[in-house]
Amino acid sequence: MKGKFISIEGIDGCGKSTHAKLLARWLRSRGRKVIITDEPTNGTVGRIIKRVLKGELKLPIAAEALLFAADRIQHIADVIEPALKAGKVVLNERYVCSSLAYQSARGLPVGWISSINKYALKPDFGILIDVPAEVAFARIEPSRRLDEFERNLRLQKRVRRNYLRIARREGLKIVDGTRSRDEVQAEMRRLVSAVL
Ligand code: TYD
Repeated sequence: MKGKFISIEGIDGCGKSTHAKLLARWLRSRGRKVIITDEPTNGTVGRIIKRVLKGELKLPIAAEALLFAADRIQHIADVIEPALKAGKVVLNERYVCSSLAYQSARGLPVGWISSINKYALKPDFGILIDVPAEVAFARIEPSRRLDEFERNLRLQKRVRRNYLRIARREGLKIVDGTRSRDEVQAEMRRLVSAVL
């Protein structure tokens, strides 16, 4: 069976992790081998990014964008490609569209972000779980709200706008994430089963 590379995108608190887990369980029950993985990773570069997100390290935004792109290249080589070669479905929480949406919201030109991600393998299928920033913000556990990117509601609003524009351009399926968990998951299963 051929592997499939599926990216799941959305602003912080949109429900990516919950829906990736539910999707994985469902796919496994249908006999597919599945891995859930995410970016930033826990690899060499990803660990530097996580220090930046925690505010332990301060870098220019362009350097952050390059780190996200470098982390992604390592992720593809170490995790994504081997899993695809083994015929697995790869559910990736965040991918190139995260960089396009977040780093452009922080002031970088989208064309440049695109060019530094030129070597990233194209997903077979992408889903954007769309929720307004206020809804997502209210869902985030207060203990998680300290991350630099999660702190700023205005930034999240810009990220959401960027995501919607990018999703249309890149052909991601946009799923309305404000509905009940079961409704959102049912739509995601429908979309995914159409491409498996
Ligand atoms: P996130 O998946 O939300 O991590 P966690 O599981 O810890 O909540 O990602 C952390 C932050 O990194 C998030 O606010 C979005 C940001 N990010 C970018 O700005 N650019 C990127 O390319 C990626 C992958 C993430």
